[in-house]
Amino acid sequence: MAGLTATEKKLAEYKCNTNEAIQLKLVRFPEDLEDENTTFNPEYSHQVFGDDEVAFGYKGLKILLYYIAGNLSTLFRVEYTSRVNEKFDCVEADDVESKIREIIPPGFCTNTDDFVSLLEKEVNFKPFGMLLHTYSIHNEEAGEDITYQIYKADMTCPGFREYHERLQTFLMWFIETASFIDVDDERWNYFLVFEKYNKDGATLFATVGYMTVYNYYVYPDKTRPRVSQMLILPPFQGEGHGAQLLETVHRYYMSSPTVLDITAEDPSENYVKLRDFVLVKLCQDLLCFSPVKLMQGFSQEMVTEAQQKLKINKQHTRRVYEILRLRATNMGDAEQSRSYRLDVKRRLIGPYKKKQRELAKMRRCLRPEEMTNQLNQIDLNLQREQLEESFQQLVSDYRRVLERLAQA
Ligand SMILES: CC(C)(COP(=O)(O)OP(=O)(O)OC[C@H]1O[C@@H](n2cnc3c(N)ncnc32)[C@H](O)[C@@H]1OP(=O)(O)O)[C@@H](O)C(=O)NCCC(=O)NCCS
Repeated sequence: MAGLTATEKKLAEYKCNTNEAIQLKLVRFPEDLEDENTTFNPEYSHQVFGDDEVAFGYKGLKILLYYIAGNLSTLFRVEYTSRVNEKFDCVEADDVESKIREIIPPGFCTNTDDFVSLLEKEVNFKPFGMLLHTYSIHNEEAGEDITYQIYKADMTCPGFREYHERLQTFLMWFIETASFIDVDDERWNYFLVFEKYNKDGATLFATVGYMTVYNYYVYPDKTRPRVSQMLILPPFQGEGHGAQLLETVHRYYMSSPTVLDITAEDPSENYVKLRDFVLVKLCQDLLCFSPVKLMQGFSQEMVTEAQQKLKINKQHTRRVYEILRLRATNMGDAEQSRSYRLDVKRRLIGPYKKKQRELAKMRRCLRPEEMTNQLNQIDLNLQREQLEESFQQLVSDYRRVLERLAQA
């Protein structure tokens, strides 16, 4: 803070990072309220607090957003150790409470006693909609298998609209470009994951995550469901729920004769990793992906079979092919490894070829003195390097998918 005036230094003390200040919790038992191990923080808060993710005007700021694990009834409180007042150079503290109120629905508790009494009614909470899939995962800590269920819900399910309003707030904290959807548009489908747990001898349900899918009409009688936003709440990430949810949703649409294929809107890197794993798992037993056929190259048969049987589009089928072919290739064998590298690079080179065509066009339009050969040369070398880098990255991502597949 060198070079700051005394006032600037003092003001800086009243800045809090909002990703740290916001404390989230999914509460099952009253003891969870005091247990710091159950607290988690946002990854993003820029949509609410601006790009620097800072709230001004407070020391020791805590924005508590505690949720009852199942129905997500909310406790919202703002706490701090001190706050700037008007005497302090006429600067005003940010209105943190209003900013949060803009994204959480009304009806939340502001005191802990009310929240705890709602917790007692949680036993009445049941998941919304139609049960699609049940699975269990072994939990090391608990030393037992825990059961999870995936449901498909819509706005006609009593209480779902209000529950969804509470749930979607989490998107702001964990998806960089999250947005709230128009829930009155009936083409939205909602898929929810719940954990079953026991409390005083009763079975209760905790929210694990969800996915929204939009049903695009491509022809009058055909649809192309598009995964819009997907979130597994942080306490449950890395346990396999994302893969279970995506596979269940895929299977749900696969069986529909009106569905052409299933795509995703602006997919993130993590989503692509998950999708690669799920699609390869679904495709690996198709005859068109037998080792012999994989070695003969990417074929129309693969495109057709994956589209018709599994509703996978051509671009995704191509990735599945590359992953399965990597598994069938002996990379220690010079000839096999060369053939694989060339095959993948031939696809990767597409955008570079386009650039070269554009360059050639430029060459025709510009005078020789306007084009520097040197520049072209550097460009080509750089392209070769970039291509090799992309290839190596891709192979390492593919290997990760294959490792996961081997463990599944
Ligand atoms: C991306 C997201 C949906 C993935 O969900 P998830 O439940 O964590 O996914 P999974 O648990 O199935 O897989 C995640 C990783 O955990 C690993 N994993 C799964 N089960 C595991 C287990 N029992 N033990 C150890 N690791 C495990 C997987 O191998 C995978 O790792 P890898 O990518 O290195 O192979 C989730 O992290 C999320 O909601 N992120 C924030 C929002 C977001 O990015 N959404 C997607 C775009 S809208």
